Amino acid sequence: MYNFYYLTLFPAIINDYFSESIMKRSVENDILQIHTVDIRDFSNNKHNRVDDYPYGGGAGMIMQAPPIIKAIKSIENHQITPIIFLTPSGIPFNVEECKKLALKLKQSKQFIFLCGHYEGIDQRVIDRYVTDEYSIGDYVLTGGELPALVMSDSIMRQIGGVLGNSDSLKEESFENDLLEYPQYTRPNIVEQMSVPEVLLSGNHAKIKEWRKKKAVELTKIKRPDLIKIKK
Ligand code: ADE
Repeated sequence: MYNFYYLTLFPAIINDYFSESIMKRSVENDILQIHTVDIRDFSNNKHNRVDDYPYGGGAGMIMQAPPIIKAIKSIENHQITPIIFLTPSGIPFNVEECKKLALKLKQSKQFIFLCGHYEGIDQRVIDRYVTDEYSIGDYVLTGGELPALVMSDSIMRQIGGVLGNSDSLKEESFENDLLEYPQYTRPNIVEQMSVPEVLLSGNHAKIKEWRKKKAVELTKIKRPDLIKIKK
């Protein structure tokens, strides 16, 4: 059983995601337990405020350190748990990082995701508590909740027992630095478009060869960068 903790100002975003689909199943099957920690509960301000103006001036509000630190300290074993901060300044999250984190999770059994809002969080939280900083892409979102969910979902897919069929991991995009080959299902004809003949042939060696060829072709066209970085 793994535990994901989310420090957030918007627990409902996280809880809603895990109330549906495959991620819901991993919670129901006792593979994953999720815990949302509302940072606002740790405000010592009568208006429950957790942000303030930046020292030195400038636009926007900064999340204050004390409520975040108290929220971290409320989590059992936080001292030995990776604390992942979602930020556009983090290292780019990709399939290699995802696999590394899945291995790390197998050891630590739990992760804490720190979701920021406003214009940022007090640097002292990052300096003292954060162990890993990740960005999910070169664009700025309004908060860390979506990036935390993106990372949680893809990390859990790497963990055995989450996907119904573990073969789906071997064949999917980015494995062997290739995009996935095209897939078809019934009916055989859709608006006069038929399914490639080879897939109906029952010849498994031929099918495998065709899929590999298509995967290489598609990768060259859509993601030539993956081919170039091939080791
Ligand atoms: N917070 C805001 N934008 C983000 C991004 N692109 N990745 C991770 N965290 C973020």
